[in-house]
Amino acid sequence: MNNYARLFFALWPDELTRARLKQLQDSVIGRRVSPDHLHLTLAFLGNQAQSLMPTLAKLIDKLPGQSFTLALDRYGYFSKPRIAWAGPSETPTPLLELQQSLMQELNAAQVTVKAEGKFRPHVTLARDANSLDEPFAPMVTWKVSKIMLIQSVPVKGGVIYSPVVERSLA
Ligand code: 2AM
Repeated sequence: MNNYARLFFALWPDELTRARLKQLQDSVIGRRVSPDHLHLTLAFLGNQAQSLMPTLAKLIDKLPGQSFTLALDRYGYFSKPRIAWAGPSETPTPLLELQQSLMQELNAAQVTVKAEGKFRPHVTLARDANSLDEPFAPMVTWKVSKIMLIQSVPVKGGVIYSPVVERSLA
C-alpha cells in the first residue's frame, strides 16, 4: 500500500455551477479539464503521509462554516503552466478568510503546504492552453456550499479525484 497521498483542499461546485463552468470551457483552446473535476483550489498539499488523514478530516470542521457567493466574471491565464482559468475580479472577504483560516490550521497542524505567493482564486478550465483574448467571462454566480479534501490518484491517461472528507457550508 502507498503510504503517501497527493492531496488538496478545494471548493466544490454544485451541479448547476458546474454546468455553467463547463459552458465557459467552450471559449478556451487547450486540454479541457473534465467537467466533473472542475473546482477551485484552496490549498495544495502535495504528497502527504496517509497517517495525516484523521488530522486533516478534523481540521476541515474548524474552518468558518458560512456559505457565500462567488462571482466568477473573468477569464485569466497563467503563462508558465499554460493554464486558462475563470475567476472573480474581486476576491470576496469570506473566501479570503476561509483560505487564510485553512492556511493557519494547516500551519498549526504542522502540515507543509506548497503556496506560491499570493492566493489567486481560480477554476482551471484547460491546461496546455492558449491565452484568451477576452478577459470578460459571462458571469457565473456560485453559491459556495461545499469544501472538499480530495486525493488525486494517478491512473493510466490521467487522474481520478477521490473525495476524502467534505464539509457543507450553511
Ligand atoms: P490549479 O488549481 O491551478 O488547477 C490538484 O492538482 C489541484 O491543485 C489543481 O487544481 C492544481 O492547480 C492545484 N495545484 C496548486 N499547486 C499545485 C502544484 N504545485 N502542483 C500540482 N497542482 C497544484
